[in-house]
Amino acid sequence: MPQPLPSSAPKACIIGFPARHSRSPLIHRFWLRQHAIAGDYGFAEVSPDDFPGFIRDLASNGYVGGNVTVPHKETAFGLVHDATATARALGAVNTLWFEDGRLMGDNTDVAGFLASLDADAPGWDARTPTATVLGAGGAARAVVYGLLARGVERIHIVNRTLARAQALAEHFGQLFSGRQIAGAGWDALPGLLPASSLLVNTTSMGMHGQPTLDVDPKTLPETALVTDIVYVPLETPLLAAARQRGLRTVGGLGMLLHQAAPGFARWFGMTPVVSRALYDDVVADLLATTEGSKP
Ligand code: ATR
Repeated sequence: MPQPLPSSAPKACIIGFPARHSRSPLIHRFWLRQHAIAGDYGFAEVSPDDFPGFIRDLASNGYVGGNVTVPHKETAFGLVHDATATARALGAVNTLWFEDGRLMGDNTDVAGFLASLDADAPGWDARTPTATVLGAGGAARAVVYGLLARGVERIHIVNRTLARAQALAEHFGQLFSGRQIAGAGWDALPGLLPASSLLVNTTSMGMHGQPTLDVDPKTLPETALVTDIVYVPLETPLLAAARQRGLRTVGGLGMLLHQAAPGFARWFGMTPVVSRALYDDVVADLLATTEGSKP
């Protein structure tokens, strides 16, 4: 029988509404077991009304920090004492921890996205003068910021709602003057693909149970890289079409795994590795819990 944890054992959680679907506990418990660390990571389903109080009482309830997910990332940014430059650029926080009793915030989606590309397509940034990003929501913010931080010169943000794409382009245009960042509607996409070195889907389209993403990668350059932040299924129809065309592809699960590592390091005192064993563990869980889909 597992021994009860000592009351001093560090404890973190995923705070969302809903939160139960999250794979973060699976990931952090894998690393806790792997390194024989006495600690825990659980679920905290917290409504928007209850969120500020939950954050205020985080430490007194025994938490050393946690992750924040939909719909709380922007609210969390407004509640932290201080935030990393990345979180400030995004106006959103997904990782909380304490320093000298003060609540700190980071947005590790950016590092997660970049680390996933670095692991699965090493050297991609040196080959990416121009990127096209599909979507203009919170995930697109993290992706666009990451691409700019890595030196991508031209970014097209393509979105169903043109005004949202333009607003995002303007936001980052002010932060990164000298780069070319433009918003476009969905109809502009065919004209953009032939000059795109990287195509990133940040929308939920192509996800199990969601509408299909109707993008044909055949006019992308043959050296292009295609990546999708959707990870159920593991290979989305977009990625399958790109692979069949002979393009390099990176799936979305890597981003989820890599974004978890910086939080673990802050709460539990060591930087964990995103290993094949962790990947397989999460895939097994996706297979067991995602009805009818083939991750
Ligand atoms: P997230 O934080 O996960 O990025 P979000 O902020 O709700 O979520 O953004 C979802 C993105 O997917 C948006 O770019 C959205 O387009 P709109 O801004 O036009 O709403 C896009 N999206 C979701 N479903 C879509 C669909 N069926 N067709 C086109 N775009 C869609």
